[in-house]
Amino acid sequence: MKIGVFDSGVGGTSVLKEILKNFPNEDIIYFGDNLHAPYGDREIDEIKKLCLKVSDFLVYEKNVDVLVIACNTATAVGKDEMEKRYSIPVIGVVESGVKDAIYATKNNKIAILATSATVKMGIYENEILNKNNACKIRQIEAPLLVGIIENGWKEITENMLILEYYLNKIPNSFDTLVLGCTHYPLIRKSIEKLFKGNIVDPAFETVNSLKKILKSSDKKNGKIEFYVSGDVEKFKKVAENFLKMKIENIKNIFLK
Ligand code: DGL
Repeated sequence: MKIGVFDSGVGGTSVLKEILKNFPNEDIIYFGDNLHAPYGDREIDEIKKLCLKVSDFLVYEKNVDVLVIACNTATAVGKDEMEKRYSIPVIGVVESGVKDAIYATKNNKIAILATSATVKMGIYENEILNKNNACKIRQIEAPLLVGIIENGWKEITENMLILEYYLNKIPNSFDTLVLGCTHYPLIRKSIEKLFKGNIVDPAFETVNSLKKILKSSDKKNGKIEFYVSGDVEKFKKVAENFLKMKIENIKNIFLK
């Protein structure tokens, strides 16, 4: 099996990390569309066009057997269309985040930290309320975080003040926070310093969805190929630091 994984940039490595832990023998192709990150500040139609270009590349040119949308924004905007378009399974991250959030909360008060586009789509709110309409949801858009994380997050005062500004919007009674953007697990340690409740990272449950699809294979040592549309060095530095592995041969590719 060849697993296609993509994000607007380096955020999807939070999902990739879990996939690698669970499926070390599968071949994986990761695409980071970092020329166009952040997706979350763009118009919905534009995001749709961008993420379909990437998914078409993975499905039609790289012939992946399963597509993992390792991006909440692209899941919110493009998953339905991708499911119609391709005959392979398409896995998004939002359903997993919803499931884990409902499981984690003890008082049904769930905050969602996400990009502006994900908040605008209201996908977490709608899906959580569909499953449990007793829940109270507070969506918080955090437009500045993705850019900082793409450039390499450092725990300096300026960054912590920005993070604090967003997290202060969570009312004290809310016991659960969903990291509704795959970039945020890269700064989880900083988030944990400021939010003391349950933190939900949809990546874990996403891998469980993948387990239902992937058949066990006999092959050993899968290989990973990385593609980015923008700055290779920037991606490499942040991804290596987070994944704790050396990444050779990241290819830069411009999708027409
Ligand atoms: N990592 C993405 C997400 O999960 C996209 C962030 C962005 O490009 O704005 O939403």
